Amino acid sequence: MSKLGKWIDERTGISGPVRSFLSYPVPKYVHGNLLYTLGGLTAIGFLLQVVTGILLMFYYDPSPEGAYNSVDYITFEVPLGWLVRGVHHYGASAMVILAALHMLRTYFMSTYKKPREINWLTGVLLLFLTLAFGFTGYLLPWDQKGYWATKVGSEIAGSVPVIGSWLASLMRGGEVLGQATLTRFYATHVVLLPTLVAILIVIHILQLRFHGMAPAITERAKRNSRKFVPFFPHWVVTDTILGLGLLALLVYLSWSQGVPLDFPADPSASDFVPRPEWYFLFYFQALKYFPGSLEAVATILIPLFIFGTMIVLPFVDKGDERRPWKKPVTTGVGIFYTVLIIVLTILAW
Ligand code: HEM
Repeated sequence: MSKLGKWIDERTGISGPVRSFLSYPVPKYVHGNLLYTLGGLTAIGFLLQVVTGILLMFYYDPSPEGAYNSVDYITFEVPLGWLVRGVHHYGASAMVILAALHMLRTYFMSTYKKPREINWLTGVLLLFLTLAFGFTGYLLPWDQKGYWATKVGSEIAGSVPVIGSWLASLMRGGEVLGQATLTRFYATHVVLLPTLVAILIVIHILQLRFHGMAPAITERAKRNSRKFVPFFPHWVVTDTILGLGLLALLVYLSWSQGVPLDFPADPSASDFVPRPEWYFLFYFQALKYFPGSLEAVATILIPLFIFGTMIVLPFVDKGDERRPWKKPVTTGVGIFYTVLIIVLTILAW
């Protein structure tokens, strides 16, 4: 240990916990299986968002008068501003995709079962908070698409029975979209959500360490389940390489596609056709099938049903069977929802 390391360890006793964290035995059926890297990659995606988000904050002006110009300035004037904004922009989509794929892996392998219920529940919250990041971030450039999508979002919140108008005014900070809305979205996006997500990721990973990974389900994986590799360097090196690959992809997308910025928000342009971010398109499309008085079914009942089903899942599906091919109901429901979301997204595109 270096002199500095020794000095710190004598005062904090940190080397013991760090050593046990790094030497944690990872089963061999997990290491080297790409499906098990999705959670770690989502965590790396979150770290990238935090770093690029902090850099963006140095230049961003959270006011309706200044927001658009500051984002324009970041994109076209600040050295490498386009790159930081691009990685943050495409990184948001990457995080949604990675968290969703990771959820599908844990769902189809039924890893939510006892004793991993808290892992699953924190995961459900993380998925919803990841989407909330996308929703709140969309408004921040204060451009046409962000402004009008948020207006529609607040109207959807307003259509919720009983508490709708309260919810919409909580979101907007008043009757119309303005400074109060931007301040609320900004505070939620840069303080509230990152804090909650960081806390939940820590709980999620501590739970994982406490229970270990769910046992193997295939015969081949079971044969490997008595062999282990240490977390460091094996897992750390694999995830670092994949994380660098993710970063390279985000840099490539920023360079080849550029970062979109619409025209400045114009509250009088009521002919503007609002479009949400691609990962909300399925919901946008579903709303079209519930016109008029049926709207509340789509705005409140369907999301509540999906969220509620995800919450109660580990307490309802309690048997020992975890092989997806032996669980036609849960596997069928999972495939049905996945296909439905993909089809609705394509239709809305
Ligand atoms: C920010 C989002 C998330 C992060 C950073 C994260 C991180 C992780 C990591 C590193 C693992 C271990 C490796 C792996 O299985 O890939 C894991 C396992 C797990 N995650 Fe997540 N996760 C997130 C979201 C979710 C979501 C959305 C769900 C489900 C709704 C979920 C449920 C689980 C479960 C049940 C396990 C245990 C898997 C097992 O024992 O085999 N996580 N998570």
